[in-house]
Amino acid sequence: MTLPKLRFPIKTKLTVATLIPLGIAILICWMAGVFILSSKVAAQAQEKVRYDLSVAREAYQSELSRIYDVVKLTASFGRTAETIASGDRRAVSESLSSLRASERLDILAAVDASGKVIFRANNPELRGDDKTRNQFVARALKGEIASGTTILPSSELELEGDSLVRQARIFPAAGTPVQLNGAMFLLVAAPVRDKAGNLLGALYGGVLLNNNQKLVDRIRSVVYEGARKNGRDVGNSTIFQGDIRIATNVPNTDGSRAVGTRLSAPVQERVLLKGAKWVGRAFVVNDWYLTAYEPILSLQGVPIGALYVGMLESQYSAVKIDMAVLLSFVLLVSGLVGVSMAGFLGRKLSQPIRELDLLARRVAAGERNVKSSIDSRDEIGDLAVRFNDMSRSLVEREDSIIELNRNLEEKVQSRTAELEEKNRLLVQTREELLRVEKLAAIGELAAGVAHEINNPMAIIRGNTELLQLSVPEEAPIREEVDTIFQQVKRVERIVSNLLKFARREQMEAGAVRLNELLHEIVGQIGHQVSLERIEIAEQYAESVAQVEGDADQLRQVFTNLVLNAVQAMPSGGVLSVRTQQVEPAGSYEVKVGDTGVGIALENLRQVFNPFYTTKANGTGLGLSVSYGIVREHGGRIDVESVPGGGSTFTVVLPRSQTPGA
Ligand SMILES: Nc1ncnc2c1ncn2[C@@H]1O[C@H](COP(=O)(O)OP(=O)(O)OP(=O)(O)O)[C@@H](O)[C@H]1O
Ligand SMILES: [Mg+2]
Repeated sequence: MTLPKLRFPIKTKLTVATLIPLGIAILICWMAGVFILSSKVAAQAQEKVRYDLSVAREAYQSELSRIYDVVKLTASFGRTAETIASGDRRAVSESLSSLRASERLDILAAVDASGKVIFRANNPELRGDDKTRNQFVARALKGEIASGTTILPSSELELEGDSLVRQARIFPAAGTPVQLNGAMFLLVAAPVRDKAGNLLGALYGGVLLNNNQKLVDRIRSVVYEGARKNGRDVGNSTIFQGDIRIATNVPNTDGSRAVGTRLSAPVQERVLLKGAKWVGRAFVVNDWYLTAYEPILSLQGVPIGALYVGMLESQYSAVKIDMAVLLSFVLLVSGLVGVSMAGFLGRKLSQPIRELDLLARRVAAGERNVKSSIDSRDEIGDLAVRFNDMSRSLVEREDSIIELNRNLEEKVQSRTAELEEKNRLLVQTREELLRVEKLAAIGELAAGVAHEINNPMAIIRGNTELLQLSVPEEAPIREEVDTIFQQVKRVERIVSNLLKFARREQMEAGAVRLNELLHEIVGQIGHQVSLERIEIAEQYAESVAQVEGDADQLRQVFTNLVLNAVQAMPSGGVLSVRTQQVEPAGSYEVKVGDTGVGIALENLRQVFNPFYTTKANGTGLGLSVSYGIVREHGGRIDVESVPGGGSTFTVVLPRSQTPGA
């Protein structure tokens, strides 16, 4: 099965063609943007945590500095030296106890030059124990100031008093208390000298780090400035003793501090064993954090714990998501702008093509002079110009075809007319030929008959005249004799006409002045017929001069015509005789017309036939004789008639009977 081929408009194709690269570009931009943003944000976050760790270290160090300042200053006071030198325990106790309280130190104690404790501010009862194994005190007794972080072993811690032992205990939220070997302290030890510079002993003081939530909270507030999100602190900090959280604000799920929990193995390995920093993403207690750890070193430079800061990863994920959303939004908006631009451009580019299509349809529907008004300087513009050329040449071609058609039609018409004319002439010629043949045969016969009748008729006429002379006028048979005489004359006339018709006589050619001849005939016609109620109209053209011919014969012709015309008007009318010069040049035309009875159409051709007559005394030879004479003169005779309206006989005679005369 073949699927029907889908048809897409050029507008859609253009739009899609623009959109595909745009879409691909947007997709690439989006992926690259998201990738760059997330990696940048991640790198930035790592960088920030690294920086946060140094801020945390500064805060940690500033606590140590505070202790350092207190211990150093107190040790350098002259009074301290005096009281230690005097061995006045009361005086020492007074000054150190109040100092410990005011400077928020957890331990503050003085030792003599041999390293024996002479006073403990937090456990005044206990003294005399040897502190020389303490590295800090040992250094102080050598005249140096020692400061740093240290782990006081449990035995030493116990000497510092029960309350500190209790304070140092770590109770995780769940489970049993953590067993720690000692407690971690920020510790400073400074030598005490008399005025002469002799070492009298040393002073050491410190702050317990176990459960020192104040310190970690301060570090956090310095680093994160109390930033919170969704009711949670964004960041937190921790102090580790070994791998145990001893002071922290990392929360458990129940919100309590996650003290007592442990460092993850990889971090422990890197920070505690290798003494290096660890920066990275880590799962701390129960959340993902961006974290930084660094080791807390002992006086000897051995890692004994760690300082940690961390920031909730969700904080950065939210930033990443925000940025990705922003980027997507920007790309979506540009995509939409791109789509509408592509749509607009597609429409604009396809518009002239649609216009050309419309114009082509109009041309196909037969419209002429269709012109495109597209004016663009590109292939479509060229196409529009070609279209206009095509439309114009179509019109021109159509015009020339129409012209050709018209010419052809005219030619066909004229040829048809010529053919009809030739046909008519052929028919006429054939009829004339027939008539001539017929006339010749009849003439032959008539001539024989007339010749034979002539001699007996002369005898009859002579004898009839003699009979008239011999029979008196009043005799009863005289009427019959007269009738015989009249009929004899009639027969003589017929015979004479027959002889004329047979034309045995030779034509005597001479110059005949037509106008004069006609005027003479009209003048004399009254002798033969009555012209009562007949009006005569003569009209002779001056250009009509003389023709070459037999004057007697032509007289016969026109007399016949005039007589017939008068006889056709028994109740009167107009007899018109006109001449004029006609084409072919050198021919004259004589028209003899009447307003008489006219000739029926079916009889029109017969009038020239011999013996055709409608008259009681007619011989029917007048017109046939005239026809023969006119033909012999090289002319022609014709008739037009309207039954009841009159007839007109036309005779055309050449001036000369030889062509070119
Ligand atoms: N002017 C005319 N008007 C009406 N009919 C005519 C006219 N001229 C001739 N005819 C008709 O043609 C016939 C033949 O004419 P034609 O002159 O040959 O013989 P005719 O006049 O009848 O006899 P004839 O000439 O011997 O007196 C006429 O009988 C008449 O019917
Ligand atoms: Mg006649």
